Amino acid sequence: MTLEEKAGQLVQYFDFGGATVAGADTTGVDLETAIAKGDVGAMLFVTDPARINELQRIAVTKTRLKIPLLFGFDVIHGLRTIMPVPIGVAASWDPDIAEKGQAVAAAEARAVGIHWTFAPMVDITLDPRWGRMVEGAGEDPVLGSAMAAAQVRGFQGKAIGEPGHVIAGPKHFVGYGASLGGRDYDEVDLSENQLRNTYLPPFKAAIDAGAGNIMSAYMGLNGVPAAANHWLLTEILRKEWGFKGFVVSDANGVNSLEPQGMAVDQKQAAVRALEAGMDLAMSVPSGPSPMLGLVDAVRKGELDEQVLDDAVRRLLEAKFRMGLFENPYVDPAKAAKVLEDPEHRRVARLAAERSAVLLTNDAGLLPLDRKALKSIAVLGPLAASGQDTLGPWVFPANGPKAISILEGLRTKLGDGAKVEYATGVAWPTRKNRSFFDDINKPEPRLPVDEKVEFAKALDLVKSSDVTVMVLGEPQNMEGESASRSDLSLPGEQQKLLEAAIATGKPVVVVLMGVRPFNLGDARPGALLEAWYPGSEGGTAVANLLVGDAVPGGKLPFSWIGSAAQAPYTYSFLPSHQPAGADTRYWNEDNSPTWPFGYGLSYTSFAYDDVKVDRAAIKRGEAVTVSFVLRNTGARVGDEVAQLYLHQRTGTSSRPVRQLKKFARVTLKPGESRRMQFTLSAEDLRYWSDATKSWIQDRSTFDIWVGGNSQAQATTRFAVVE
Ligand code: BGC
Repeated sequence: MTLEEKAGQLVQYFDFGGATVAGADTTGVDLETAIAKGDVGAMLFVTDPARINELQRIAVTKTRLKIPLLFGFDVIHGLRTIMPVPIGVAASWDPDIAEKGQAVAAAEARAVGIHWTFAPMVDITLDPRWGRMVEGAGEDPVLGSAMAAAQVRGFQGKAIGEPGHVIAGPKHFVGYGASLGGRDYDEVDLSENQLRNTYLPPFKAAIDAGAGNIMSAYMGLNGVPAAANHWLLTEILRKEWGFKGFVVSDANGVNSLEPQGMAVDQKQAAVRALEAGMDLAMSVPSGPSPMLGLVDAVRKGELDEQVLDDAVRRLLEAKFRMGLFENPYVDPAKAAKVLEDPEHRRVARLAAERSAVLLTNDAGLLPLDRKALKSIAVLGPLAASGQDTLGPWVFPANGPKAISILEGLRTKLGDGAKVEYATGVAWPTRKNRSFFDDINKPEPRLPVDEKVEFAKALDLVKSSDVTVMVLGEPQNMEGESASRSDLSLPGEQQKLLEAAIATGKPVVVVLMGVRPFNLGDARPGALLEAWYPGSEGGTAVANLLVGDAVPGGKLPFSWIGSAAQAPYTYSFLPSHQPAGADTRYWNEDNSPTWPFGYGLSYTSFAYDDVKVDRAAIKRGEAVTVSFVLRNTGARVGDEVAQLYLHQRTGTSSRPVRQLKKFARVTLKPGESRRMQFTLSAEDLRYWSDATKSWIQDRSTFDIWVGGNSQAQATTRFAVVE
């Protein structure tokens, strides 16, 4: 290959199909000419199979080496059939449904010609102000690792290149979720202790599961932008972990090294990225990719050609493994069939049912008594909006559709009950316009006379047996470029909620959106967190509300009481204060509204007889914890049994509790089961900044098992030598 041909392989461009998008000047490069010249190795944002074939044909017929293009896209929770948002799926605590959901996403993506997805997003975050919390698995590294690995298996299948699957690209390496103030794109400072014990494990799990790609983050990590961070991209990723796949920058991540003060020009930006371990630069085609400057850099001796060759080899290997040299094209007729596979919608419904978390259910208002129910009021703009039900990272061009909660309830209740609807409130307008407002145009929203709607909604509450209010945030109020500085319900939703409760009629709130909304003192009769439940959201929520499905999900983050508590984790270090004392804030407690791992069911569970198989073990040995879990209620239901660990003393101070194991099980009324979890030496070791190494201490370890992070059933063991 010539130097030009090599550099061209490291270029990835967006194709917005001619659309203008905020902040992105896309006029700098004529894509077709650039591809024909061999200046492009990969594309993104093209999802129409005909257009994919058209661009591929240029690469395969017009260039000297006929190297096919690799097509990537953000298939975050589906392409046509949309699963609940990833944090919702994490709330299922069911890696199996996460895997199945992403296998559906992969099948649809591969069918239209996409080879690689920029997912799973495995960033840990302790800060719900950060809008991208919706894409990840929450605050915990053990749950996060399980979800990361499951999604990689779902996307990729058994090995890269398996038909109907795509390459997975865990992102954003690493620390993005810890941005200062929860502000999107801001810098991140994390100690090695935090990185190794909390933020890196989900990436390691994804790589151990075989992920073929990694996307680096945008921001500076401890002062060094992630796209030029040699320690991350080479020392940890390749040398320590043995990662063999390719690394892509986040959008314009290499270009941005110049404004981030890491390079004097675009050529030097590319050199610094490559030397750090980057392979492919994803860029908006507003000008030639920085990677094209590598030709000159090698010629002038500013970059060792071997470094360039290594990057090119990794890209070509991905293309070979995906079978692109044999089959560069896709069959649009077949694609249309795959996209409409009814099995995909069945998985989406199941995922939505398994994701839901029941937060309160005072006096057993849920499940609704279908026989007694003659009239039901459904309120809130989210209730009737299919588009909002899908959540962020879903694009109209791919034809996604959702059953809204209103539709779901109407279908479910049939002629049995009168279902009436009022919007009730309008949405506030956004302060800063983003890319997503252009690319993902919100459904035209009818002008709402809020006063009239509000009054109509309240009349409906008064005249109906029960009210279901769907409250939360619309599609683009969460996700990228959508951080919020407070956790209240936007607009007049809180007012409507309080007014509805004040009527004295029973009110069920379904939350759509993933922030831990602060509902103040408002206490609806029942509160069901549905997240953004996806294509079958309305069906799933209706099933849950009437008891045809039983909620069994658990919170994947601590539901803090106000934005001021962020960042927050249940897994904090013990302080000098005696246990139980809390004088952290003058004006409020430091405890969350609902703890990490919390969620109710329509039945109840009890934990008994916790024991360990050995009271003392040696370093390197395993210990097995067992306990009896019993369904003490009158319905069949799911429980997520969780095991938490605390190491009493050590080389470092260790968190008050850490999730180590979990399992979601279904039990019939009265059924009990002895369950067991085995803790290996791996589960007991941690990174200590005192020694800058992984260690396993001798110590006493407390164990708790239960249905959330405040579990009470306890035992202990010791590591003695
Ligand atoms: C996001 C990535 C995404 C990329 C391509 C970026 O702005 O941070 O997560 O994969 O755009 O759409």
